[in-house]
Amino acid sequence: MTTLDTGIPLFVLGQGTDPHSERGVDCPGELPPASDPDLVARAVKAKAALGDRLFVLGHHYQRDEVIRFADVTGDSFKLAREAAARPEAEYIVFCGVHFMAESADILTGDDQRVILPDMAAGCSMADMATFDQVEEAWDVLSDLGLADVTVPITYMNSSADIKAFCGRKGGAVCTSSNARRALTWAFEQGDDRKVLFLPDQHLGRNTAVLEMGLSLDDCVVYNPHRPNGGLTDQQLRDAKMILWRGHCSVHGRFTEQCVDDVRTRIPGVNVLVHPECRHEVVTKADHVGSTEYIIKTLEKAPAGSAWAVGTELNLVKRLAAEHPDKTVTFLDRTVCYCSTMNRIDLPHLVWALESLVEGQVVNQITVDPETTYWAKLALDRMLALP
Ligand code: 13P
Ligand code: SF4
Repeated sequence: MTTLDTGIPLFVLGQGTDPHSERGVDCPGELPPASDPDLVARAVKAKAALGDRLFVLGHHYQRDEVIRFADVTGDSFKLAREAAARPEAEYIVFCGVHFMAESADILTGDDQRVILPDMAAGCSMADMATFDQVEEAWDVLSDLGLADVTVPITYMNSSADIKAFCGRKGGAVCTSSNARRALTWAFEQGDDRKVLFLPDQHLGRNTAVLEMGLSLDDCVVYNPHRPNGGLTDQQLRDAKMILWRGHCSVHGRFTEQCVDDVRTRIPGVNVLVHPECRHEVVTKADHVGSTEYIIKTLEKAPAGSAWAVGTELNLVKRLAAEHPDKTVTFLDRTVCYCSTMNRIDLPHLVWALESLVEGQVVNQITVDPETTYWAKLALDRMLALP
């Protein structure tokens, strides 16, 4: 049996407003109407015309109508690696969000063009750490004599200039599938090391406490809107993990109550969540991991098993459809998409592909050379993690 709770109302969350992007310029050209019955045929034709010059990457949270055109699907880590491994592709069309396309531009050659079909596809979590705020926080740590022993680690879900900041300060990027390895790498640089973890406090806390054995008392939350991050000097000195006060509004919806409710509703259910969920939720869950991990876990699960999945709804719906022999349900009773992932729809994809066929590169994502240099250093450190 396949079940998917589709209670109302429907929410879409995650709208980003990154001031560093060209966003707001939604679609400068002619967008085909969503009602056009030929959209699929048009996408197939444009893709065929572009042939090997084109490579389409699709994040697991993309809509079905878009993901079917992806040459490779993956989590943020896999997509970054795939982008770096396609030097022959002239155009990389990234069906995902802005920070992912920026990372692809950083990791690809100067002659390659990265295209985001809708510039408004941002990430509200990435927007929670601006370059100026992070520099200010670093100044606070410098004044306390702590900057030299602090390794900045930024989640992939951050702007290119935050990644560059980490590269410049001896830090690295991580994703949800290698956060533990990145933290291990950081702490191995010296017994006195602490980590400034940007911008997702939940991934940082969950990894440090649940995977590395640090205590909750080792972690403090730095609020960029308060002087000294809202912390005393002593709290900053004592902390091992300085967690930026950022979060994902989509994963933040899952609560302990959701876990308790689903366990009552479906006896024996396995609760499988993304590490962007709050600590209490991850602590109560049976399994935690990246989107790729979630997919693999369900592939390996025995027929007849029941799963409540705490991640974005497009992926959970697809998993439910792909595993009719298992019960796959959304962890929350109220369904919720990531609004910005959802911005990439078939009309935008067709528009981007057909423009390329006509020789016009639209919605190109470009990161300036200086930022690229330092951000690439931080990304390469991640890609080299053992
Ligand atoms: P993954 O790297 O697990 O795909 O996560 C990316 C993301 O944005 C989750 O919200
Ligand atoms: Fe950002 Fe991912 Fe959350 Fe969407 S689901 S807001 S892309 S972190």
